[in-house]
Amino acid sequence: MELTPMAPQCGVEISGVSLANCSDAKMREIKHAIYEHGVAVFRDQDFSPEDHIAFAKRWGGIDINNYFPLEDEHPEIAIVRKKPDQKTNIGGAWHTDHSYDQIPAMGSILVARELPPEGGDTLFAHMGAAYDSLSDELKAEIEGLEAFHTADHVYEEGGIYAQTDMGGDLRGQGLKTGATHPVVIRHPHTGRRLLYVNGAFTINFLGKTRAESLPLLHKLLDAAVRDDNQCRVKWRPGTVAIWDNRTTWHNAMNDYHGHYREMHRITLSGEALAA
Ligand code: SIN
Repeated sequence: MELTPMAPQCGVEISGVSLANCSDAKMREIKHAIYEHGVAVFRDQDFSPEDHIAFAKRWGGIDINNYFPLEDEHPEIAIVRKKPDQKTNIGGAWHTDHSYDQIPAMGSILVARELPPEGGDTLFAHMGAAYDSLSDELKAEIEGLEAFHTADHVYEEGGIYAQTDMGGDLRGQGLKTGATHPVVIRHPHTGRRLLYVNGAFTINFLGKTRAESLPLLHKLLDAAVRDDNQCRVKWRPGTVAIWDNRTTWHNAMNDYHGHYREMHRITLSGEALAA
């Protein structure tokens, strides 16, 4: 197996492995690479929905998505789809999945099923590099802080998606979510300090209103998406990407209007986060 970093701070491309038939030793190496680099890309995979589910189970549990359409015969698989007549895509802003859960999903395994002729890349940003890049003053300011996260404003009736042409495709509008996490967490496996707020789901710091929280939140969000923290996944048929939600944020580019894009996503269960 060969590991080639995709960018100085984020992402690794892994070749010489078939995910559908991967040994336990290779699996351990893959997991460690994802915890460290945040996202791993695998090319030319022959990966059926059954392989996708079986591989996901080797990580532990599967978190069935509450909002996206599910694959009819395999409800463990959420469909991330944009049709040619839609203008909105799923995940088209910087975020980390499920930070609104008290035990957030560890990560996701995303499989390219149908791609537009051009565009539709996914950007990732490394939250360890983001934390390291903060000034000592900013690190001191966020030490010990906690933040509140929810997805209600995104998915509820009248919420962000409901106001777009993607609204009719989504489920779970009545669900209520809410979780509190440290602003700086330690990665449960590597111990690295990671910035754990995001622009989509983090609402306020505990003890502060949204308005009082916004100036500091914006400083952190700007630091998180510095160009040198990022890598770009360019999808090809047979590409599979696996990312760690604690280590990275992601942002699905919405630059292929008039074309169809369909990805299959399985979300992997995680563990409680600690400072
Ligand atoms: C997402 O999971 O947020 C979507 C990622 C993508 O479609 O590239």
